[in-house]
Amino acid sequence: MHLHLKTFASRNFRNLVEGQIQLHPRFNLFVGENGQGKTNLLEAIYYLLTLRPMRQVRPRELLAWGQTTATVQGELEGRVERKLSVSFEKRKRKLKLNGAPPLRIDDYLFDTQVVAFTPEDLQLVRGAPDLRRRFLDRAIFHTDINYLSEVRQYLRILKHRNALLRSDSRDRDVLSVLNEQFTGWGARILRRRLGLLERLRPYAKETFGRIFPEQIDAIDLSYHTQLGNLSHLNGSMPPGLIEEDLQSALWAQIKKYQQRELDRRSTLVGPHLDDIHFLFQGRPFKVSASQGQTRALVLSLKVAEIFEIQNRTKQHPVLLLDDVAGELDPRHSSFLFEFLEETHGQVLLSTTNLSSIQLPELKQYPYFHLENGQVSHRNDAF
Ligand SMILES: Nc1ncnc2c1ncn2[C@@H]1O[C@H](COP(=O)(O)OP(=O)(O)OP(=O)(O)O)[C@@H](O)[C@H]1O
Ligand SMILES: [Mg+2]
Repeated sequence: MHLHLKTFASRNFRNLVEGQIQLHPRFNLFVGENGQGKTNLLEAIYYLLTLRPMRQVRPRELLAWGQTTATVQGELEGRVERKLSVSFEKRKRKLKLNGAPPLRIDDYLFDTQVVAFTPEDLQLVRGAPDLRRRFLDRAIFHTDINYLSEVRQYLRILKHRNALLRSDSRDRDVLSVLNEQFTGWGARILRRRLGLLERLRPYAKETFGRIFPEQIDAIDLSYHTQLGNLSHLNGSMPPGLIEEDLQSALWAQIKKYQQRELDRRSTLVGPHLDDIHFLFQGRPFKVSASQGQTRALVLSLKVAEIFEIQNRTKQHPVLLLDDVAGELDPRHSSFLFEFLEETHGQVLLSTTNLSSIQLPELKQYPYFHLENGQVSHRNDAF
């Protein structure tokens, strides 16, 4: 059976009223007026499955106002059945997997893939570089849990390195040991991200071409670092070789920036500063593409991420679409619904307007009405 959430329940999560819902393995619709709790419900489900907020909020903002504890829980069916739960108590997060604390966070997250679409995803193209780095990193975590510890190692070394650069002693021997580790972990992250972008590129280009057939081949994406043009280092080269190349490139960069780093007392190179560059007709996307084309690019990136997950894990991710249909013009929404029909995974869709959902045979799927945080299953919607 493909991965899907069978039941979901929450307590004291934002404005959601305590209670449990049963979900369908394919489509589930959440309908309600503005401000009733549709995004909160998808946020709660996203958090349960990924342990990260769907949007940029602090974990304590997930609790209902005035509350100090909250819980989200659900039963997940896939290759195995699992019960997941997260409770927040006195600012601490407690996880349970099948009723007991998991030994490692990776056990909790294992084999669970989720892709969310929200109107805020437009920031992926328009916003700051850290959103694009996060997009890449999340896409890699989804298919390889080891990446989580690699990134943690890198960030740990980065923290030490920054602390040393800030300190008065700035011991050169310690710095050179840190540089060895820094370039090693940095090269590993670079290789992963470059490989991912190479795999996403054809899907993103194809999807964009399906939405804008007259603009076929209009877009391109490339990974941007201070290391110069990395296009010759693509995912098809032997992995060992690439990582060594990247490590030497990082070393060279550190040497080049040595004095500047000492002056500024901070690390000025490394994958924590990189970005994705999007091009439209060979020009920077932000200044040359329209609103609709920007939306199409975001949708293309998400679709590429879904294919990446399907290819690498042989599973269909759970898709959470928050109010996306209402924002799309006819050609985007017809593409989106055709695509959703072609996929086989579970889809949770929220909308203010049921008529924007262009799926055939909608009647066979559950419809939930949201009002003041109360989620009720309705059969009388159609
Ligand atoms: N921490 C919180 N505790 C309690 N209520 C909250 C909390 N944070 C937000 N809310 C309330 O939740 C409601 C918003 O819910 P949500 O964003 O899920 O609405 P929505 O149905 O997605 O609306 P829209 O269609 O406008 O996007 C608002 O009324 C807001 O005041
Ligand atoms: Mg909303």
